[in-house]
Amino acid sequence: MTQIDKTKPVLVTGATGYVAGWLVKKLLEEGITVHAAVRDPNKKEKVAHLDAIAAKSKGSIKYFKSDLLDKGSYAEAMKGCELVYHTASPFTLEVKDPQKDLIDPAVKGTENVLETANQTPSVKRVVVTSSCAAIYCDAIDCQNAPGGILTEDVWNTTSSLDYQPYSYSKTLAEKRAWEMAKAQKQWDLVTINPSFVMGPPLNTKETTSESFNILKQMGDGTMKSGAPKMAIGLVDVRDVANAHFAAGFTPSAHGRYITSGHNTNFYEMAMTLQPKFGNEFPLPKKAIPKWLLMLIGPMVNKAFSRKMIKRNIDVEWRADNSKIKKELGITFRPMKESMEDGFQALVDNNIFKKK
Ligand SMILES: NC(=O)c1ccc[n+]([C@@H]2O[C@H](COP(=O)([O-])OP(=O)(O)OC[C@H]3O[C@@H](n4cnc5c(N)ncnc54)[C@H](OP(=O)(O)O)[C@@H]3O)[C@@H](O)[C@H]2O)c1
Repeated sequence: MTQIDKTKPVLVTGATGYVAGWLVKKLLEEGITVHAAVRDPNKKEKVAHLDAIAAKSKGSIKYFKSDLLDKGSYAEAMKGCELVYHTASPFTLEVKDPQKDLIDPAVKGTENVLETANQTPSVKRVVVTSSCAAIYCDAIDCQNAPGGILTEDVWNTTSSLDYQPYSYSKTLAEKRAWEMAKAQKQWDLVTINPSFVMGPPLNTKETTSESFNILKQMGDGTMKSGAPKMAIGLVDVRDVANAHFAAGFTPSAHGRYITSGHNTNFYEMAMTLQPKFGNEFPLPKKAIPKWLLMLIGPMVNKAFSRKMIKRNIDVEWRADNSKIKKELGITFRPMKESMEDGFQALVDNNIFKKK
């Protein structure tokens, strides 16, 4: 049982991020002092949205310059905090050097933050933003999981530096976090494991999250001839923020939490956009057949290898979200709302050309 004092500052690493933005908003609205660790606090375009929220909220925000690969750089930001949210980690699928671009910042960054927690006596709880990617590699893994469904007991065992390296980075980082948590008694660890996060960004122009590449491809005509039935889970970014908040402040929170509202695929996601946006934007109207993807996929995107297509297209993705509902009281918004609100944010920022 870990009781967190709400009058103490709370650290959020990677506060400029898509997921972190909504968490910072929630903390500020609750009147909490947020220590926002960012790579460059002077980049106004990266933090202006957080300043604007802070100005209207009960809480306040203070920035600290920190980098995942710069040892000790979270010490100042962590001083006096009982609760640490570690969200920073690169989320990108197209990388030149997976070790340098994904694995190092994810794993060494987690070590860096948790070593600092060990040296900061005020810290009582660390909430790490892991991912469902640390639970499974390919959708077909759901079939092989006990009972045919992903639970918190399952780990991704098949990603590697060469295959789904982002998932590999999240798996190694979460494993390292549990190892380090078990090696000490000062703080407890809770992980939030979201599936694919969707919904409006708070800083649309600067967003780097991979979540938006898929949405952009649905709206800019890239998927005009069809969307793949690429099986994934989906969760709203606002629900992910609520999940982080509850994981931090619920004394009995423990272990991993699958944070996923819906079992779906890219085609179903795109179809939710048709009624509101289908007349104006070149959205996909049908599913692209698996055989065609096998032919063209590997040419379009290196990540779309035949192995990946075989193991993820026309396969069902299934995860059990009952633990977070029961223990942390989290509810999930309808998928249509997340998709429409996310797409609308891109439309409002002129990211797409109309048909
Ligand atoms: N979006 C999803 O679908 C999804 C699903 C499951 C889990 N997650 C996890 O959620 C977290 C946030 O992802 P997101 O979708 O919000 O992506 P994002 O918007 O790209 O956020 C990534 C954050 O990590 C920071 N970062 C990256 N490299 C860093 C470094 N070397 N040093 C310090 N900070 C660094 C970024 O800082 P800059 O702004 O300076 O680049 C940014 O704040 C990640 O841990 C990701 O794995 C995301």
